[in-house]
Amino acid sequence: MEIYKFAYQIIQEAGQIIRDSIDDDIQIETKSNPNDLVTNIDKETEERLFNQIKSTYPEHRILGEEGHGTDIDNTEGVLWIVDPIDGTLNFVHQQENFAISIGIFIDGEKYAGFVYDVMNDKMYHAIAGKGAWLNNEQLKPLEDTDLKTSLISTNPLWLTKEKLAKIYMPIVDQARSTRAYGSAALDFANVAKGNTSAYLTMRLHPWDFAGGLIIAEEVGAVVTNQLGEQLNILEANSILIGNKKIHQELLNEYFLPYKTMLEQIHTERFKGK
Ligand code: IPD
Ligand code: CA
Ligand code: CA
Ligand code: CA
Repeated sequence: MEIYKFAYQIIQEAGQIIRDSIDDDIQIETKSNPNDLVTNIDKETEERLFNQIKSTYPEHRILGEEGHGTDIDNTEGVLWIVDPIDGTLNFVHQQENFAISIGIFIDGEKYAGFVYDVMNDKMYHAIAGKGAWLNNEQLKPLEDTDLKTSLISTNPLWLTKEKLAKIYMPIVDQARSTRAYGSAALDFANVAKGNTSAYLTMRLHPWDFAGGLIIAEEVGAVVTNQLGEQLNILEANSILIGNKKIHQELLNEYFLPYKTMLEQIHTERFKGK
């Protein structure tokens, strides 16, 4: 419980600092490609969280998107998986619709998840086995839905890829409607809240999904990759999350008919990563 309260507090403080400086000039750099941005705020937020965790719990380990814990290859002890700003493009272009995401694992077991929608001061949080909340309000168990009466979310980019379009186009076509939010952590939170019924994407890293995974599972969401396999919290993977019924429908009727092709894509994309 102490770790949970501490995490809650340092995430809120980090969010407050970001809100206070939201109108300041930011330094933007590119990473792997011209659309993969990182700012000084991403780096400073991760650094601050890292220093606070380490000064309170020196033995805890931290895996962060912006460079901490690159040598971590096992889940022993207490492991914090941190995305200081999830939705950096929203942060840069909109100054809103981004989140701080943290998942905490103890000896590989889920312990606590946090997704903090900074500009709206909305903290999604969960303790594994005890429930999930949005601020002080407990989130309800998810209701089953069908694709044809559901809102889903995905990145439209996947529809432009020839092979994936075969899978994604019928899903988008059959859904009631599709949303694209630009923050995977908030996509998980939206499913946990019941705002959307499913979220599907071809590639997330552990820091994108670690916090949201714990929150969403607490309300009964099913979270796997697109082959129906469990996620490994140290590895990148494809993602399929939804209430139990829509997850099963998407997996059995839309993804698994393309199992061979998907297995090949997964091997190419994720082997050894
Ligand atoms: C990104 C966001 C985005 C998702 C990307 C992620 P970042 O994280 O979650 O929604 O589609 O795959 O990399 O880089 O803004 O932390
Ligand atoms: Ca990034
Ligand atoms: Ca992210
Ligand atoms: Ca990030």
